[in-house]
Amino acid sequence: MSAIPTEQKALFLESKFGQFAVRTTEVPKPAADAVLVKIEATALNPLDWKVQAYGVVVEVYPTILGFDGAGTVVAVGENSETELFRIVQGWYEAAKGSVHGTFLQYFNNPARFVATVPNSISFDDAAAIPSGLATAAFPLYNSTGDALFSCAKLLPPWVEGGRGKYAGTPMLVLAGATSIGQFVIQLARLSGFSPIITTDSVHNASFLKSLGATHVIDRKLPAEQLTAEATKLGGGLFPYVYDAVSLPDTLEVALALTAPKGDLVTVVSTNLKELRVAHPNTDRRIHLAHGLFASPINHEIGASLLAALPGLFASGDLKPNRPEVLPGGLNGIVGGLERLKKDQVSGVKLVVRPQES
Ligand SMILES: NC(=O)c1ccc[n+]([C@@H]2O[C@H](COP(=O)([O-])OP(=O)(O)OC[C@H]3O[C@@H](n4cnc5c(N)ncnc54)[C@H](OP(=O)(O)O)[C@@H]3O)[C@@H](O)[C@H]2O)c1
Repeated sequence: MSAIPTEQKALFLESKFGQFAVRTTEVPKPAADAVLVKIEATALNPLDWKVQAYGVVVEVYPTILGFDGAGTVVAVGENSETELFRIVQGWYEAAKGSVHGTFLQYFNNPARFVATVPNSISFDDAAAIPSGLATAAFPLYNSTGDALFSCAKLLPPWVEGGRGKYAGTPMLVLAGATSIGQFVIQLARLSGFSPIITTDSVHNASFLKSLGATHVIDRKLPAEQLTAEATKLGGGLFPYVYDAVSLPDTLEVALALTAPKGDLVTVVSTNLKELRVAHPNTDRRIHLAHGLFASPINHEIGASLLAALPGLFASGDLKPNRPEVLPGGLNGIVGGLERLKKDQVSGVKLVVRPQES
């Protein structure tokens, strides 16, 4: 194990609606069941800019955001084991309004929520895995869920009997080029869904087909035309729809395309609330994704996914999002979040390397 410094750099959000600043802070010692990971790459997510712009999720400031990271374990707590190359997910405690984020150089994380990834995958690629994959997988395959975060309860393709189980069943994935959408398409392919119809800008069509989409519809078509096209390709309404962007207009299309008693997965709680108000009597089963490994409702499905994850990536069954590495280490994050906020990122995951700060 290499020498661990006592201080590190981190990107702080200083106050609610406040400014970001890179400054030094101490390197924590791992608790008994935790590991300290030297973060070589961390990925940006829309929630990072939403916390700053809307004042959501976090009540405890200053805070360090960041929900995806990859690096090497450099210290372990007394009850943890050592494995060198790990991916980690930043997480929040909703009740306390506090976040444990990856926009730093050394991340202290409970050992049970980190995954090993094969050496064939770079740190930059690996950093783009945890949140996108978990948010795609949990609402489809979790067999529990709760009143807020209900799930479609499908059998995961990484467990016995799950691979190809839904052969011949159509699935619609709105916003296939999002980080989440890319993983939904791949999981749907492993589950056997067919056809897998997705929407996105046409320039991403061949990429999304390489992941498993059978048809790509231009997301900028008027809603009526998009709905007609999807229905024609799918042979009717869809028993499973995943709206990976969940904007007010895409949610309306998604609900209209979900079959009676079918499952619709959404990802943005505020927009889902409005959809429920507009359609109080729908018989569609509408779910809200919750992609945190650390949340108790996801512990069982999360452990199952973390165990399968190295094999899924080593075999090429799953591919990470394509990373775009931003220069400047942690100093590159603020500009990257601006691009995410302005919808200027298409089909790639923005990544920075904190050790280059
Ligand atoms: N509930 C949860 O647990 C959870 C977890 C993670 C994220 N989220 C939320 O999920 C959403 C997606 O996150 P992400 O990280 O996957 O996004 P992302 O990768 O940053 O999304 C970028 C992509 O969105 C596509 N897009 C934008 N507007 C679209 C539209 N109207 N129709 C189809 N595609 C559209 C863009 O497509 P083009 O290439 O065509 O421009 C672009 O490729 C965010 O709102 C995020 O906050 C929720």
